[in-house]
Amino acid sequence: MPSTPPSSNRRQWLRLTAAGTACALLPASWPTLRAAAAQSEAGCGTDGAFTQPLFVSGSDGMFGRLALGAEALTLEARARGNALEFKARVATRQFSNPTLLTSTGDRVKIRLDNALTEPTVAHWHGLSMDAHNDGNGESVVTPGGHFDYAFTVTNRSGLYWYHPHPHGATARQVHRGMFGLIEVNDDDERSLRRALDVSPGTTELTLILQDRRVGDRDRYAPAPEDELYGWYGCVPHVNGVLRPFHAVVGRRYRLRILNASNARTYRLALRGDNGAVLPLTLLGTDGGLLERGVACTQLLLSPAERVDVLVDFSGIATGGFAILESRAFDAMQAVATAPIPSTVDASHGHDGPHTTDALPDGAPFDLMLFRITARGDAAPALPSRLSRLPAMAADADNARPLRLGFAKGRWRINDRIYEPTATPIEVPRGARESWLLRNYHASAPHAMHLHGFQFRVLERETSPEFLAPLTVDAQARLPTDLGLKDTVLVWPGESVRIAIDFRHPFAGSQMYLLHCHNLEHEDAGMMLRVKVG
Ligand code: C2O
Ligand code: CU
Ligand code: CU
Repeated sequence: MPSTPPSSNRRQWLRLTAAGTACALLPASWPTLRAAAAQSEAGCGTDGAFTQPLFVSGSDGMFGRLALGAEALTLEARARGNALEFKARVATRQFSNPTLLTSTGDRVKIRLDNALTEPTVAHWHGLSMDAHNDGNGESVVTPGGHFDYAFTVTNRSGLYWYHPHPHGATARQVHRGMFGLIEVNDDDERSLRRALDVSPGTTELTLILQDRRVGDRDRYAPAPEDELYGWYGCVPHVNGVLRPFHAVVGRRYRLRILNASNARTYRLALRGDNGAVLPLTLLGTDGGLLERGVACTQLLLSPAERVDVLVDFSGIATGGFAILESRAFDAMQAVATAPIPSTVDASHGHDGPHTTDALPDGAPFDLMLFRITARGDAAPALPSRLSRLPAMAADADNARPLRLGFAKGRWRINDRIYEPTATPIEVPRGARESWLLRNYHASAPHAMHLHGFQFRVLERETSPEFLAPLTVDAQARLPTDLGLKDTVLVWPGESVRIAIDFRHPFAGSQMYLLHCHNLEHEDAGMMLRVKVG
C-alpha cells in the first residue's frame, strides 16, 4: 500500500494545528446552533444525558413539510451564519431545507437560485430522471446563477433526499447543513398509513442521523486522516439535536430514518429500559416499501441509506423508556500506512480515525431516547402485503466487475478515479445488468451509490463474520437487501452482487454516476461516470 496521504491540504492542516486554539473560532454550523448549550457542557462522548427535546418539523421552518404543486418552487441556496441551507418561501411560510412532498406521477418544477459565493447544484438522491435534471455536478450553478429543474416523479413511494453535488465540495456543503428530504406518496403508502393508523409528525417520525464534533471543532476542516477515512464526529445528532428525547405513548410508531452523516455507518437497535433489545419490523428501504414487513433486531445504515421501521412501545410500562442506539462493530478500516497526526489517541484499539473529536466508525452511540408517557391503543395488524416489487431479471453470469480499493493515495473503483471526460462504464440501451462490487480486504467500508436507477441486492459473499447472525437467506442478504436500493454498503473483503434494470424512457444516452457516499471518498474521486444508452 502506498503511503501518500490522499490530500493536498496536509501542509495547510499542519499550519492550522500549529496555530492551535488561537485559530479563528467560527460560529457553529446548524445542528450546533440548536444544541449549542448542551454541547458546550457535554463535550465528546458516546453516551450522556438526553436533555433536549427531539426537533419535529411542522408546516414551515427547518425541514418544514411542503407539498409541491403545479407551480415551480424556488429553492435558494444560501448561507445562514456558518451554516448553509436551501431556503424556500411560499406565501407567508418560510422554510429551511423543506421536506418536499410529492406523489408518483407528479410533474416537479423547481428553480435553484444560487445565493452562495461558491458553485453548487442540487441532486435528487434516489429519484430516477434524465441526466440533465439529475444535478450530478457535471454542470454546476455559479454564484448568482440559477437552474430550472423539471422532471416527472416515476419512483415508488419512499423517503428520498436532496443535497448538493459540486464535485470536491459536496462533503463540506452537506456537512454545513444543506440537504432536505423528499417524500414520495402513492396508493401503497396511503393504505399503509391508514392500516397502521400513523400520521407524520406524531406517530410517524422522520429521523435524520448525523455525527458532529463539538463547538468550533465542528467547522469543516478535514485533516489528512479525515480525508482518507471520512469526516467522523464524536456526538450523535438526531434532527439536528444532540442526543434528544421524545415523549411517546405505548403503541406502534413508524420511524423513517436517513443517515445524513458524511462517513459514519450506524448499527441501529432499540434497547428497552430493562436492557433488552426490542423487536423491529423493517417496512421499507431506499426505494420504498418491501413486499412484506421483515422482523429484525438490528439494521445497518450507511451514509445516504434510508430505512422505514415499525417499532412497538406497547410492551414498555408508562414512565419507562427505550433508547435508539448504534451498536459497536469493527469497521475494519485498514489503510494503516496513512500518516497519523499526533492528536491521535494511540491507546484506542481501532485502525481508523480516532482522535477524541472523531470516534471511529463502529464506535457505539446512544442516539436518542423515547419516554413512554401514557398507554396507547392496541396495535392494528400490519397488512401481510405492503407493496409489490418490480421483477428483476439480470444476466447473472456476466456480472460487471467493480473493484473497490486504495492505490496511490486515493480510493478507487476499478483502479480509476473520477475524470469528467472519461466514461469507464458504458451500458447498452435497455440492458439489465448484474454488477459485482468487490471490496479489497485492506480497505474501508464503501457505501456505493448509483444515480438514476434503483437496484436489487442479489447476494453477498465473504461478508464480515459479525453480519452472519443478521442475514435472512442463503444469499447472505441482510433485511435491508430485500427492497429497492440506491446505496449499498460493501464491507472490506466482501463481494455484493446487484441487479440493475437500465431501461429508461429518455431520448439519447444519459450520463449518471456511480460513487461511494462516504462524502470524503466521493470528493477525492471515488466516483465513475456511467453512460447509459
Ligand atoms: Cu446522494 Cu451522487 O449522491
Ligand atoms: Cu444520488
Ligand atoms: Cu468509500
